[in-house]
Amino acid sequence: MIQAPKGTYDVLPEDMQRRELVAAHAQRVLGAAGYRRIETPMFEATELFTRGVGEATDIVQKEMYSFDDGAGRSLTLRPEGTAPVCRAYIEHGMHKRPAPVKLWYLSPFFRAENPQRGRQRQFWQVGAEVIGAAGPETDAELVVLLAELLEALGVRDTRLRLSSLGNPETRVEYRRELAAYLREHEAELSPEVRARIELNPMRAFDAKDPGTQRVMAGAPKLLDRLTKDDAQHFAQVRALLDAAGVRYELDPTLVRGLDYYTRTLFEFTSDALGAQSGVGGGGRYDRLIEQLGGQPTPGAGWAAGVERMLLAAPQAPTAPAVVDVFVTVSERNSATPLTLAFQVAHEARRAGLSAQLELTGRSLKSALKHGDRIGARYVAIVNAHGGASLKDMESGEQRELEAAAVIPTVLRGAGI
Ligand code: HAM
Repeated sequence: MIQAPKGTYDVLPEDMQRRELVAAHAQRVLGAAGYRRIETPMFEATELFTRGVGEATDIVQKEMYSFDDGAGRSLTLRPEGTAPVCRAYIEHGMHKRPAPVKLWYLSPFFRAENPQRGRQRQFWQVGAEVIGAAGPETDAELVVLLAELLEALGVRDTRLRLSSLGNPETRVEYRRELAAYLREHEAELSPEVRARIELNPMRAFDAKDPGTQRVMAGAPKLLDRLTKDDAQHFAQVRALLDAAGVRYELDPTLVRGLDYYTRTLFEFTSDALGAQSGVGGGGRYDRLIEQLGGQPTPGAGWAAGVERMLLAAPQAPTAPAVVDVFVTVSERNSATPLTLAFQVAHEARRAGLSAQLELTGRSLKSALKHGDRIGARYVAIVNAHGGASLKDMESGEQRELEAAAVIPTVLRGAGI
């Protein structure tokens, strides 16, 4: 009997709808923020990942599916999307486009890991990359967009961990300091950590054994070593997240398995998941493009695992609203509400909302039903006295207000 390879799975028709909804929500959330979709090849020159992701990372050391192309070149099934997107950015001279270039993807990736719940050898990611913008508002916006996507998909019990890695020079110095500290405590460390003191001392923060954890509790922290500029950038990212009401935990020990990060680093975990609790994460990578042979160009982004998001979302996400507001009238016999309803729909569109007007003279009841069917986020029922009822089709809540207040209310609710 031939079965699907270990760590892979079939997406059966009954599972397809949820996955399509992930795509629809990603398209909505990222499309509205000006990101455009990109797709790069499923395999790339191996060197792209050794150079981009980093020689010393687990991904490059043990998780890549590499093969000879038959002509002596080593190719690798892509383990992640950032290095390929940056490669494409350079290859297509995208620096000539208006900056920043904002891209998103929904693609399969491959890592030869030991399969367990939420960890496969082929998995899918939704990812977003902003290339050509260096400011803290980019980092904060990226975090907010990922939070919005996770919320839209109903991903439960999420927590955001946030840190900063500063710049590579600070990091080299810090690594030296940390390695020296680890050597001082060598006897208390696990053999695995001990073997990697020189290669990748920061991974020691990830270690699960109590001995190493005790040592790491007293280890010097990179966050305390940032340059003034890097510290200021990080303070601004935090201030913007605070202003946006995004809650996070500062985690100076946050490490992610990729070497290209500089400055901001973040990760969303979900307590609804088991050991593989990371649903999505990312950060800034201001040196990557240069490292891959392009002009020095700042970048930042994230990726979130589709399977993990779905695992952490117990209920199937509902389809995103295709219509922000469906406008109808409370009674058909007077001309006034129809004029008003017409105006409301027209102005809603001018304000950038998608709006539809009831055009077939449906009764109130069947108009509401129709609003539901077309996926309207709100139904506005305009009455003869210049007022309106606004029904939130998700929560079922209904509010009475002036007809003139309908659009501002929908704009607030739609988060525009
Ligand atoms: P990453 O943290 O390696 O980041 O992967 C992002 C997400 O992909 C993880 O949070 C997880 O949900 C999912 N994932 C990773 N490995 C597996 C696996 N074996 N099985 C199932 N899901 C998995 C990156 O890949 C970076 N490229 C993110 C990024 C974009 N940074 C900047 N821009």
